Amino acid sequence: MKYLVTSALPYANGKLHVGHVAGAYLPADIFVRWLRLHHEDVIYICGTDEHGTPISISADKEGVGPEVIVDRFHKSIKEAFDSLDIRFDNFSGTARPPHHKASQAFFTALYEKGHIKVKHTQQLYCEHDKRFLPDRYVEGVCPSCGASGARGDQCDACGAAYDTITLKEPKCKICGNTPIVKDTKHWFLQLNDFKDQLATWISTKDYWKENVRNFMLNLLEQGLIERSITRDLSWGVPVPLEDAEGKVLYVWFDAPIGYISSTVEWAERIGQPERWKDYWLSEDTRMIHFIGKDNIIFHALIWPAMLMGQDLNYCLPHDIPANEFMNLEGQKISTSRNWAIWVDEFTSDFPGDYLRYYLAVNAPEKGDSDFSLRDFQARINNELNNVLGNLANRVFAFTVKNFEGVIPAVNLSEDSKAVMREAFELMQQIDDGFREYQVKKNTRLIMDIARLGNRYFDERKPWAMIKEDREHVAETLRVCADLLAYISVAMTPIMPSRMQALRAMLGLDSELSWDKAIIDSQQSYVLKDTHALFRKVTDEEIEAQLKKLGSPEEDKVQTDPLKDSITYDDFAKMDIRVATILEAKRVPKTDKLLHLKVDIGSEQRELIAGIAEVYEPESLIGKQVAMLVNLEPKKIRGVHSQGMILAVNTQDSLSLLSPEKPCPPGSTIR
Ligand code: MF3
Ligand code: ZN
Repeated sequence: MKYLVTSALPYANGKLHVGHVAGAYLPADIFVRWLRLHHEDVIYICGTDEHGTPISISADKEGVGPEVIVDRFHKSIKEAFDSLDIRFDNFSGTARPPHHKASQAFFTALYEKGHIKVKHTQQLYCEHDKRFLPDRYVEGVCPSCGASGARGDQCDACGAAYDTITLKEPKCKICGNTPIVKDTKHWFLQLNDFKDQLATWISTKDYWKENVRNFMLNLLEQGLIERSITRDLSWGVPVPLEDAEGKVLYVWFDAPIGYISSTVEWAERIGQPERWKDYWLSEDTRMIHFIGKDNIIFHALIWPAMLMGQDLNYCLPHDIPANEFMNLEGQKISTSRNWAIWVDEFTSDFPGDYLRYYLAVNAPEKGDSDFSLRDFQARINNELNNVLGNLANRVFAFTVKNFEGVIPAVNLSEDSKAVMREAFELMQQIDDGFREYQVKKNTRLIMDIARLGNRYFDERKPWAMIKEDREHVAETLRVCADLLAYISVAMTPIMPSRMQALRAMLGLDSELSWDKAIIDSQQSYVLKDTHALFRKVTDEEIEAQLKKLGSPEEDKVQTDPLKDSITYDDFAKMDIRVATILEAKRVPKTDKLLHLKVDIGSEQRELIAGIAEVYEPESLIGKQVAMLVNLEPKKIRGVHSQGMILAVNTQDSLSLLSPEKPCPPGSTIR
């Protein structure tokens, strides 16, 4: 059996935050490390997803080419993974030429078998920007669930994927205008061709996580529609057909092929260019895709269909453990508002293993979970320090002080044997837990071994026994050292670096192996350079992290304080009328001022208004506005200004007040 483990390719469009890691990367890295403890044949493959509209939008905004964005974030993401000890066998990127070639070959194979058909269709088009608006270039209301902020291709709120022109209230992301619908042509993957094959395949997946399986069964029941797999864009993999100028493959068509092209890159890098086939073209491979829940449809439906339609006999996904999302302090993570914990910053403040531990304890396996900094502090201090760190410290300190750092072989009493049996059973449960990706439960079970050790240590009171019965104390230390050795193996997938340190202190530098966690009962533990395994997280450190966070919601508008109340008579003194603007011109040598001529029914007036930054003079002619007509006249810039037109002046805009329906000029506003 071979394992091919992948994590969803992160978009090379932003830094890595804890939400990403908790969903698709840490669980995969833990699983891979666990397989390696069992000496399984496994490769772990990833890379950055370098196409798609989020990247070209960022590039447009910065006025640089997309490859600039891609290179920047490929590097940043890779470094963030390194800082967390998330270790891929290969980390590629989909803008690389071999990936383009592989994606085009995938397209061609499907096309030649008739699984891809061209169709004249319609797309949203912005007349202002003179371009089509695929995917994230447009935003609107989801046709499926009614949530706002839905993208052209996909709704983050409900996970639906749909045809852009069904999006309600669409708005161009570049200029904010409402786009028109325009004719174009695109190529569609005939998913229905694979209906039976997919149904048969899914029927063998009764072991899948319920969320994934139900999602799939639902989709199959609804019927499979053809899916557009091309876009009117310049950034992407060019469609390999004569009559496809200006078209690229949809990012979700080429991205999963990145799993293959990254494996090919790995094989070449290790000097065995054919090696990728041992995984991809073997019936003996278990391919496991770790993803977030928003990626289910692409991995469980479209990608398998794409694989089924190839000439080569590719393996299909064996399992697709999709995780839910992680929130931050009870609110959805928002990268734009900096409501996020960035991996690079956090791992420069705390050991990467602390973050791994916390994300594992809090894994969003069955439902969304929450990252709370205070909870992080509590977990590190109360669990890692006070339970596991404490067990190690007391065993090490006692051994160094009384046994010159050597824990000898001993005969175990019945009580001690019972403790070891309990630990062994826990180890088996933990093993099963890893097999089923149950990271969260496993952190608890592993800490249970440490709790067992502390309880046993307390009960046997070595501090009192040391004077009367050294053998008794040696036995206590021996059992606790064995428990620590168990933990050092079971916890390795979760905290590889701290556990390596623990094993070094226990004098265990032998190869890591699940089945040989503890040393031979005839051997001694010879402790080396013992020191504290963990340090506590202080209140100040947490305060500093909290301060770094942005805002979880849109900033509330700062409003002026309310004024004192006035009588009706005070109000009635103001003569506010509807005025129709007759003429408007800029006041020379100013940016802000317009010189207006208005009709207030009984007469015409001239006045100066500070609205030139927002309103073009021509656009105002004929417009009706509210005007205070009995304001003391004043000479402004040589103009006898008689009155003031009313406007709402917010932080970043200005809006004139107009009657909702046309009114005779001079009508009183009250
Ligand atoms: N970039 C996508 C995301 O972050 C995931 C791509 S996964 C792949 O949602 F399979 F397409 F590579
Ligand atoms: Zn536009």
